[in-house]
Amino acid sequence: MQIQTLAIQGLRNLLDCKLEFSPQLNIFYGDNGAGKSSIVESIYILGNGRSFRTARHAKVIKQGQEALTLFSQFSQEQKHQLGLQRFRNGDIQIKLDGEKLKKLSDLSKTLPLQILAPEQFELLSKGPAGRRKLLDWGVFHVEHSFLNHWQKALKVLLQRNQALKRCRSYAELTPWDQQLIPLSETINQRRRYYIEQLEPIYQRVLKQFLPELDATLGLYPGWKQNETLSEVLQRQFESDRKTGFTHSSIQKADLKVLVNEQLAAEYLSRGQQKLVTIALKLAQLELMQQLTDRYPVFLLDDIGAELDLHHQQVLLNFLAEQPKKQQIFITSVHLDPLKSLIKGYNGVKLFHVEHGAIKQQ
Ligand SMILES: Nc1ncnc2c1ncn2[C@@H]1O[C@H](COP(=O)(O)OP(=O)(O)OP(=O)(O)O)[C@@H](O)[C@H]1O
Ligand SMILES: [Mg+2]
Repeated sequence: MQIQTLAIQGLRNLLDCKLEFSPQLNIFYGDNGAGKSSIVESIYILGNGRSFRTARHAKVIKQGQEALTLFSQFSQEQKHQLGLQRFRNGDIQIKLDGEKLKKLSDLSKTLPLQILAPEQFELLSKGPAGRRKLLDWGVFHVEHSFLNHWQKALKVLLQRNQALKRCRSYAELTPWDQQLIPLSETINQRRRYYIEQLEPIYQRVLKQFLPELDATLGLYPGWKQNETLSEVLQRQFESDRKTGFTHSSIQKADLKVLVNEQLAAEYLSRGQQKLVTIALKLAQLELMQQLTDRYPVFLLDDIGAELDLHHQQVLLNFLAEQPKKQQIFITSVHLDPLKSLIKGYNGVKLFHVEHGAIKQQ
């Protein structure tokens, strides 16, 4: 998976530009506020249709403009052309190889991206939603049918919640639970199997960053494990009915990240938590390569943030050893710390970013 070119129009402070990337390593450097994260954001939008920094699409569009436009050529097995436009009212138009694309999931299938940005430093300490998303990103990319099960389960959950508001006895929910329970089991199984495969890779990667830790991964399926989902749904009927909401199910699942048998978020420093998150993401990339022979684009925004020089260097050395088929985009305020990484690559492109203008060096 390689992005060859990207034209950006109307995105935050960036001046309209057309960039040509290295298939291996691309580095954007420049002062605070120059526009580095905005470039990473534009690549992320290309693969996901939305930003990782805000849910409000209009915020990403340059002040005074009606829309942002991205146009890119990339290759994934074959060459593709992608045009994407996002308007202030939230409308989006996507054309892949001249055809209108309706589902954003088709976009992430075609252009898989993995990102690590300061916005995710709190992945471990915040609620389960972010960790569930990380987990499901991985399961989806090694097994696309996962999304079908997930969407079906969500639909049944919605219908169940509506039924809860008007029903009088648990028996009236049977038609929904008869669908929800097997779907949940399938989803739960896929997640568990994925974590089992991810864990040894994650442990090996993390050993390089934090060798002294005993790190493990686990899955909270969305309900307590001493009961089956069927028992939980029956037992919680009254409280579900009162709130009109299903309290326990696969939409409550969590990836448990443990070190020395404690929750990583309660035990590790912020910098260490960032390293754990990086190890998780690198392990996901490696597992995806192993299982699908695909190399998603890896975006690393503000690589140096919160890391001491030693750990920054360990991370850079690790990245230098990554398969060269993996296209990487890195942003950093300073270029100096990246010198050793740059030496390890033949195909590096450096871009200096200043007041929204991007100049290739
Ligand atoms: N919708 C918008 N229109 C115009 N400018 C914007 C918009 N949204 C944000 N900006 C400006 O874009 C600039 C670029 O921000 P960006 O986050 O890309 O900088 P950065 O180079 O990553 O900085 P840092 O090193 O601090 O992370 C900021 O000065 C910001 O105020
Ligand atoms: Mg930034």
